[in-house]
Amino acid sequence: MKNIIVTGSSGLIGSEVVRFFHGKGFFIHGIDNNQRAVFFGPQGDTRWSQKRLMETLPNFRHHELDIRDRQGVLALVREVKPDGIMHTAAQPSHDRAATIPFDDFDTNAVGTLNLLEAARQFCPEAPFIHMSTNKVYGDLPNSIPLKELESRWEYDNPAYENGIPEIFPIDQSKHSLFGASKVAADIMVQEYGRYFQMPTCCLRGGCLTGPNHSGVELHGFLSYLVKCNLEGREYTIFGYKGKQVRDNIHSEDVARFIYAFFQSPRCGEVYNLGGGKENSCSILEAFALTESFSGKKQIYRYMEENRIGDHICYYSDLSKMKRHYPGWNITKSLKQTINEIVFSWRERLCS
Ligand SMILES: NC(=O)c1ccc[n+]([C@@H]2O[C@H](COP(=O)([O-])OP(=O)(O)OC[C@H]3O[C@@H](n4cnc5c(N)ncnc54)[C@H](O)[C@@H]3O)[C@@H](O)[C@H]2O)c1
Repeated sequence: MKNIIVTGSSGLIGSEVVRFFHGKGFFIHGIDNNQRAVFFGPQGDTRWSQKRLMETLPNFRHHELDIRDRQGVLALVREVKPDGIMHTAAQPSHDRAATIPFDDFDTNAVGTLNLLEAARQFCPEAPFIHMSTNKVYGDLPNSIPLKELESRWEYDNPAYENGIPEIFPIDQSKHSLFGASKVAADIMVQEYGRYFQMPTCCLRGGCLTGPNHSGVELHGFLSYLVKCNLEGREYTIFGYKGKQVRDNIHSEDVARFIYAFFQSPRCGEVYNLGGGKENSCSILEAFALTESFSGKKQIYRYMEENRIGDHICYYSDLSKMKRHYPGWNITKSLKQTINEIVFSWRERLCS
């Protein structure tokens, strides 16, 4: 039986990847120490997800390990010699990073290096798939001319009609400390691919979402928005008139791409992975969609000041992914995804 290591296995993407590969007959070693609860407090707790994986998947083994623990990571990879490493553990919040710069960098940059080096020493042939972020582009996407539509901002330059491609510059812009620690990891993952010819890739995520997210105000846009709607809680919009645009991809479609890369890996690749233009929406549009499924009016307040380095309009150009992996496509529409998130929060809030 083939086995893989999934870091951040209790998180949104990690847990989806665990379930997906389990369904394909793999044994999965999950690494997670519930650090999300440390980063975001009890609302970010992912133990419920870990418990569910342990109860429902016989070929899943949980390892209570911190990816910053270099010796622990080296020992586990040496023992397991996995056929693949899917690295989804991170300090994932733009805004949180500024208050915990050491924890952020140690987790995102050094934790990634610990895993890469363990892979190079003990399983250099194993595909290494790293969840990166569109924040590696910093706030440079905000320099693209925009036009204001009724409910959203839109690119006013035909070069970006299909979204932001992977050749977009990553430096000389404001990233947030999170974006900077993720750049360090992203470049390191590429370098292990190019320098050591290891099968690595970086997936620069837009908004990754789905029913299994433990959304909090600082991370997990749609999940948190839907939760506020259902609880009748006030959602705060930070600047840009609420017309800022994100592209949203269901975690299942992320897991399907990770599997496609695992089956047919390349060295040191980079892909922009999001919902693309079709699955993009502004905050105001997300309110309307959520209301249509929940039947509840969204309560919100507007703060003029935007989040530092926040994108005004961002959606991923998916053409490179589709060219390299023609069998992969988005299978879940934005409406379907929001409907699933509404359903899941209803259940979780009642239990
Ligand atoms: N969700 C998004 O919108 C989004 C967007 C772009 C990129 N990403 C990236 O995708 C990846 C997965 O994101 P997610 O939304 O699933 O995040 P998540 O917070 O839901 O999951 C991450 C998991 O990693 C665990 N973790 C964190 N630090 C750890 C450590 N030091 N050791 C062991 N485990 C640790 C957490 O407890 C959590 O369960 C991250 O790299 C994130 O930066 C996410």
